[in-house]
Amino acid sequence: MTATIRIVRAGGGQSEFTVQVGEFTTLLDALEQIRGEQDEGLLYRHSCHHGSCGTCGVIANGKRVLSCVTRVSELAQPVELRPLTPYSVIGDLAIDPAPLYSKFPDDASILRPSEAQPDAIPPAEIPGFTRFENCIECGLCESVCPVLSAGGVTPSRPFMGPAALAAYSREIEKHPERADELLNEIDSPEGVWGCDRALQCSLVCPVEVYPAKQIAVLQRKIEARKAPEQEPRRH
Ligand code: FES
Repeated sequence: MTATIRIVRAGGGQSEFTVQVGEFTTLLDALEQIRGEQDEGLLYRHSCHHGSCGTCGVIANGKRVLSCVTRVSELAQPVELRPLTPYSVIGDLAIDPAPLYSKFPDDASILRPSEAQPDAIPPAEIPGFTRFENCIECGLCESVCPVLSAGGVTPSRPFMGPAALAAYSREIEKHPERADELLNEIDSPEGVWGCDRALQCSLVCPVEVYPAKQIAVLQRKIEARKAPEQEPRRH
């Protein structure tokens, strides 16, 4: 079957392409087809093609998705693609994700020990099992956050955002000895108290990080630190 892909550019203007798709053709496949056969200058980001690297986020028919795991056949025609807000656009669908990483905690560790696998034998050069964090830093949560992205490219007010705050939550879980230092950094209107609890970040997250839940956990930890100590009961 044929599908129509309409690419709407951030600065105005749009282009429409007709592509051949099957049931399992993804949006990224379609973009590769367009670039290979119709517009070799088309810009978009991708790497892994299987939902792991987090680079291929786009807005498709108004929804934030990873283009490499979203089937064209499941989308209404024409499929309208836009670059992710609130990031600045390098060109076409390619955005600059630098602001996303800049708000992550300093010195955050990105690997963690995995559950021991009793029967597995790790390669000799790897000192024990490690795995990457679930978060793939795709930015979909930031893009759907009403505080950061509702106004387009300009956040409605300063806010660290769900991806960075979820990273703080993970860092505190892995390194409890850093809890005071890290909670101090996010106890502000730009930090955990900037969240409007729209929960959209948790709904859109493709890897079940649940940023809104992590923000609530951080808020409770901060409140617990501030709560006056209970008077001991007198008998
Ligand atoms: S290309 Fe890696 S997540 Fe889509």
